[in-house]
Amino acid sequence: MKNGTCWLDDQGKLIQAHGGMIIKFGDLYYWYGENKDGPNCIINGETSRRVDVIGVSCYTSHDLHTWHYEGLALKATKDDPNFPLHFSRVLERPKVLFCEKTGKYVMWFHADSANYQAAQAGCAIADDPKGPFTFLHAKCPNGRDCRDMTFYFSPEDGKAYIIHSGDRNKTMYASQLNDEYTDFTGVCYPMMQDQTREAPALIYHNGLHYCVTSGCTGWDPNSALYSVTPHLSNGMKLIDNPCEGPNYRRTFEGQSTYIFEAEGQAYLMLDHWKRYDLMHSGYSILPITFNDEGIMTVHWRDEF
Ligand code: GAL
Repeated sequence: MKNGTCWLDDQGKLIQAHGGMIIKFGDLYYWYGENKDGPNCIINGETSRRVDVIGVSCYTSHDLHTWHYEGLALKATKDDPNFPLHFSRVLERPKVLFCEKTGKYVMWFHADSANYQAAQAGCAIADDPKGPFTFLHAKCPNGRDCRDMTFYFSPEDGKAYIIHSGDRNKTMYASQLNDEYTDFTGVCYPMMQDQTREAPALIYHNGLHYCVTSGCTGWDPNSALYSVTPHLSNGMKLIDNPCEGPNYRRTFEGQSTYIFEAEGQAYLMLDHWKRYDLMHSGYSILPITFNDEGIMTVHWRDEF
C-alpha cells in the first residue's frame, strides 16, 4: 500500500473510509470511515467541496493489508432533511469503541448541517462491530459546538471522552462520557485553549496522553503539532511538529485522523484530501516512535 494514494479493497474497489480509524475487535482489524463514493456536488454550476453523505463504511482485515468491505455500518437517510443522518448534511470522522459495561459497540461522529453551523456530536450503537448501528442522538457536548472530533478511552481514569474542537475551533475540549459511552456527564476539560487546532488523534504512552492535531485550513494540509499531558484535566502543552521526512511542514500533504497500535507498534493514520474529488482522497499509515525523553516522531514511509 503506497502511502499518500488511494487504496483498493480485496475486490479491487476504492477503500472508502475517510476521516476514519482502525481498531482490533477479537482477532479482526476493523476500519471505519466516511464513505465518499460519489462525485463532489455541483452547486450553482461549480464543483463544491462536499459529497452527499452515504454513511460509515466498515472494512475488516486479518493483516492490515487485505481489506474486505462489510458494507455500511451506519447509513445516511433520505426522508427528513433535518434528521442528523440525512444525505444533504455532514457526517465526518466516525470512531467506534467497545463498551465493556454494556457489551455494545458505540460509534461517535461529527454530525453537522451542510454549512457546518449545527456542530454536533452524533452517537449510534450496535451489538455487532459490523453494524447495523442504531442512531441514538446528535447533540452539542455540554452545550458547546463540536466539529472535528475523536473518541478516546483514557487509561488514566478508565473513562471515555469525546475530544473535539469547540468555540468555533478555538479550543480543543475533552468531554467526558458516561459509563455506557452514550452521553455526556457534564465533566469537560479545555485541553488546548486559543490554539485553533483540529483533527485530533490520541495515544496514551508511558503515563502521558499525546494528541496529534492539525491547524484549521479546511481540506488543505498544514503543520501537525503534538501536545502532551499526564492529566487530561490539566490541559495539554503543545510541543512540536512530530513529522520527519519530505513535506513534513505539511504533514506529508495529509491530515491526522487516528492513532492505533498493532503488535506493539503505534501508527498514525492520515487522510490526503482531494477537495474537488473527495472520493479519490488517499491514505497513509505511518509508524510513530517515542524516544527516552518522550519525544514523539511520525516517520514518513513510502509504503505501509
Ligand atoms: C477540515 C476537517 C475535515 C472537514 C473539512 C471540511 O478542516 O478536518 O474533517 O470537516 O474541514 O472543509
